[in-house]
Amino acid sequence: MTIRAAVMGVGHYLPARVVPNAEFADKIDTSDEWIKSRSGIERRHFAAPGEKTSDLATHAAQAALADAGLTAADVDAIIVATSTPDLTFPSVATMVQARLGMTRGFAFDVQAVCAGFVFALANADGLIRAGQAHCVLVIGAETFSRLMDWEDRTTSVLFGDGAGAVVLTALPGQGDASDRGILATDLNSDGRFQDLLYVDGGTSTGTTGHLRMQGKEVFRHAIEKLAETAHRSLGKAGVTAQDVDWIVPHQANLRIIAGTAQKMGLPMERVVVTVQDHGNTSAASIPLALSVGRARGQIKTGDLIVTEAIGGGLAWGSVVLRW
Ligand code: UT7
Repeated sequence: MTIRAAVMGVGHYLPARVVPNAEFADKIDTSDEWIKSRSGIERRHFAAPGEKTSDLATHAAQAALADAGLTAADVDAIIVATSTPDLTFPSVATMVQARLGMTRGFAFDVQAVCAGFVFALANADGLIRAGQAHCVLVIGAETFSRLMDWEDRTTSVLFGDGAGAVVLTALPGQGDASDRGILATDLNSDGRFQDLLYVDGGTSTGTTGHLRMQGKEVFRHAIEKLAETAHRSLGKAGVTAQDVDWIVPHQANLRIIAGTAQKMGLPMERVVVTVQDHGNTSAASIPLALSVGRARGQIKTGDLIVTEAIGGGLAWGSVVLRW
């Protein structure tokens, strides 16, 4: 018998304030037309003053638990993927643990920027398969609006805030691709490329800093590396791209999403796209897309899904799972 980490519930939370592209055009030298045509983004949500990453994460966690029909007492571990923690430490995950009223188990953050949710899923899969946890809450939560340099039109128009969560529990399987749950993972990083996307603050500066990105270079790496990692994890799962019901990609840029689908030989009808409504929410983008895709009626029980993401590090990877 094979133990699989299967999704039992999904949920998300978006801050109330919606910011359309037009709001940027009023303040900096940009236009709705440029933002839409270069990135696919039409609007994004920004957290209210005082609204923290841990608040977004807690709301998403509660929604996912309710969807699973479980409570915090059922959870053994919480993993939060974030690069925008409320504080340098403790982890956002321990803050969520306290807010959920969970007094046992363990909680920690994973920091792999936009690939964070994929890395967190792979960690949860390992914990469940090793028998260290039966039920793991995996959350992606970000407030990237707090890292923006509002004078920089090349980055400030691209990012948004939000959170998504899944509840994974151990499920017995046959050990083949018909099983529900995570079937394969593929993780990568290459620190030689850290200058392409980073935040220029931290303990070395004593400031939070601002996000800096060489967008064109990141774009080039994304197009090449995302299809590659997806191909590798599909191979490990013993399936082909043609078996995939849904690509649920990191939502950074519609042109990257479309380019990756094309490289995989799949039509856009089989891709969950939310970038127009959320912008790039870093580690939150995939669980947000999973939750919205399920709510739209796109993702159904038994569907074969591949998720893929790349971000600062560079760090990138993919997960193949059956919903
Ligand atoms: O989630 C982490 C991973 N991150 C990503 O995946 C982001 C990857 N990169 C991208 O999505 C794209 O590279 C961007 C959307 C960031 C930029 O698109 P692009 O087609 O690569 O544009 P570009 O950087 O080559 O800029 C084209 C022009 C430049 O003007 P010149 O030099 O041609 O005169 C920019 O200065 O567009 C200008 N530009 C803008 N114009 C209006 C840059 N930002 C803006 C803007 N509004 N906001």
